[in-house]
Amino acid sequence: MIKKNILITGGAGFIGSHVVRLFVNRYPEYNIINLDKLTYAGNLANLRDIENSPNYTFVKADICDFPEMQSIFGKYSIDGVIHLAAESHVDRSIRDPFLFARTNVIGTLSLLQAAKSAWEKTGVCDRLFYHISTDEVYGSLGSEGFFTEETSYDPHSPYSASKASSDHFVRAFHDTYGLPAIISNCSNNYGPYQFPEKLIPLFINNIRNGRPLPVYGKGENVRDWLYVIDHARAIDVIFHRGTPGETYNIGGFNEWKNIDLIKVMIRVTDRLLGRSEGESEKLITYVTDRAGHDLRYAIDSGKLKRELAWEPSLQFEEGIENTVRWYLDNQEWLDSVTSGEYQEYYEKMYSA
Ligand code: NAD
Ligand code: TYD
Repeated sequence: MIKKNILITGGAGFIGSHVVRLFVNRYPEYNIINLDKLTYAGNLANLRDIENSPNYTFVKADICDFPEMQSIFGKYSIDGVIHLAAESHVDRSIRDPFLFARTNVIGTLSLLQAAKSAWEKTGVCDRLFYHISTDEVYGSLGSEGFFTEETSYDPHSPYSASKASSDHFVRAFHDTYGLPAIISNCSNNYGPYQFPEKLIPLFINNIRNGRPLPVYGKGENVRDWLYVIDHARAIDVIFHRGTPGETYNIGGFNEWKNIDLIKVMIRVTDRLLGRSEGESEKLITYVTDRAGHDLRYAIDSGKLKRELAWEPSLQFEEGIENTVRWYLDNQEWLDSVTSGEYQEYYEKMYSA
């Protein structure tokens, strides 16, 4: 049997590591090539359990390095791409927009061009470039309504602008060169292995350590939270059964106002730490709002349910309990990912 070679970019990051794990375990008939630059957000400790699997290879490389991408497509005879590598944190994008344009736009373009030139030689039959994107490209909602696949793009942060731009390049390669490509736009993910700069792991860690919980503005912004393993399941379904040229929205139908979500996290974390539930509410500190802070994201994932029968499998109560427990049980992982530039980032972000 000839094995398929699947390139997963950003596989050492939060979502990517769950996708790599799922594909390595579920598809012994694939060779999974995980390409990652190992920025501050990439950590091989996220993949310890599968790193010795016979169908897994790790390659350290920068997606912006076009000659290197060309050589990887040749060396591994890549049949399919699941592209997750990106700079992903809105607050960092406000401080360093050039980095986001470089990685998310130029990096995606470099991969697209490498796929195009490799597959022009081999034929595009059975090939797929699957680009993982975000609901943030659609901008911000008022109190009503949902983003659908037809919603116009209206990004506000340098992060979402860079992701929107990368989505446009993917569509352009499909429409102009016939590159078989799919895009999915997902809502906020939570779960194990998320870098503790994002709301949920940052706050769990701070509750444990008795540090202030910096709530931006009045805490009234709304996000739609999806358990990361449900996102990985959706990626599996779309990669195998999605239609090239199509876009799929992925979401949890699980909207939370930040302050309400924070109070749930406090209750669960306090309980698991043996404190009285709600004790850590005293750590809540309202701070200056994020510039350009989108009010509300909410995804209509009806198309994915109708066409590919995907639905979230985990209730939020169970997901958040698993997540808090995981971070409390994995202090060693937290210490290893926060040992680099994290302290400096944290001081800069939250000392003012
Ligand atoms: P992450 O920041 O945890 O991981 C990103 C990974 O990309 C890291 O392993 C990093 O080392 C790697 N990387 C960064 N620059 C690179 C480069 N130049 N070359 C190679 N590798 C590089 O991100 P995440 O939260 O896992 O998000 C993964 C993807 O999913 C991103 O494209 C993001 O836009 C998208 N997404 C994320 C969410 C979310 O809630 N986290 C929601 C929807 C979509
Ligand atoms: P985040 O996890 O950064 O995801 P995104 O900005 O991509 O939605 O933030 C989730 C929400 O939490 C968002 O409305 C910003 C808010 N937030 C805070 O209030 N304080 C914080 O320290 C962080 C990191 C986020």
